[in-house]
Amino acid sequence: MIDIDQHTITQAVLAAQRKSPSPRLAQVMAGLVRHLHAFAREVELTEEEWFEGIRFLTRAGQLTDDKRQEFILLSDVLGLSTLVTAQNNAKPPGCTEATVFGPFFVDGAPRVEAGADIANGAKGMPCDVSGQVRGIDGSRIAGAVIDVWQSDEDGLYDLQHAGGSKIQARAQLVSDADGRYRFRSILASCYAIPHDGPVGDLLRGLGRHPWRPAHLHFKIEARGYERLITHVFRDEDPYLESDAVFGVRSSLLAKWVKHPATATEVEHHSLAFDFVLNPVGASAKP
Ligand code: BEZ
Ligand code: FE
Repeated sequence: MIDIDQHTITQAVLAAQRKSPSPRLAQVMAGLVRHLHAFAREVELTEEEWFEGIRFLTRAGQLTDDKRQEFILLSDVLGLSTLVTAQNNAKPPGCTEATVFGPFFVDGAPRVEAGADIANGAKGMPCDVSGQVRGIDGSRIAGAVIDVWQSDEDGLYDLQHAGGSKIQARAQLVSDADGRYRFRSILASCYAIPHDGPVGDLLRGLGRHPWRPAHLHFKIEARGYERLITHVFRDEDPYLESDAVFGVRSSLLAKWVKHPATATEVEHHSLAFDFVLNPVGASAKP
């Protein structure tokens, strides 16, 4: 096809893509091309702006490695992560809601015994966390594999520290015969997502802040149940209403209780939170 102009380019690309041996790839790419072209038409994108976009994506790629994931950050601040999470994790009322995964999960965190201190030297006031994993019918789920990870008092995850090789404030636990789990870690603090790269520039350009309310991350897997990836948020955090990545759900807010020092125990906090999983195949369509 020759002599393609601004009025015929979209149909030309769509026609070229129809030959894909993968119907799903053809469907996804047709939607992407239609919306991308509609976007360029709607905002009357200039060549300079197009090149600025290319520069932005180039910088994001150059900054991304196994410790820094600028593209997940971009997806998060654009609300795409929350949209995709929400449309793929509809659950019946009573189940724990899912929220964004974020860029700081690490596969293969050390498995620890119930009650272990997972801080491993991470900065922060001690905090005891406990709860139960249940099915929607109330049954206790034994043997659920629970990954937990969080930032420290300075708002940094272990892999963000210089060197970044010491595993801190992250671990894997297994729920006991009664579905219960417990560990000691540190008090969660609000923190700014990495904003020294192109995503930070974008936030500043849009007059937005980079802060996330204090939270713990959980990933829970149990045989016969849908995997749950979620957070538990501190209910009095000033950033709950303006989370930079739109991840807050009111059902995920919890109270952290402060315990003053005693003769036998240092000052610390505690959090109790139960998780309710959805059986495989029982998904609620919105
Ligand atoms: C996080 O909660 O770890 C996170 C989520 C989205 C972007 C950056 C961090
Ligand atoms: Fe986080």
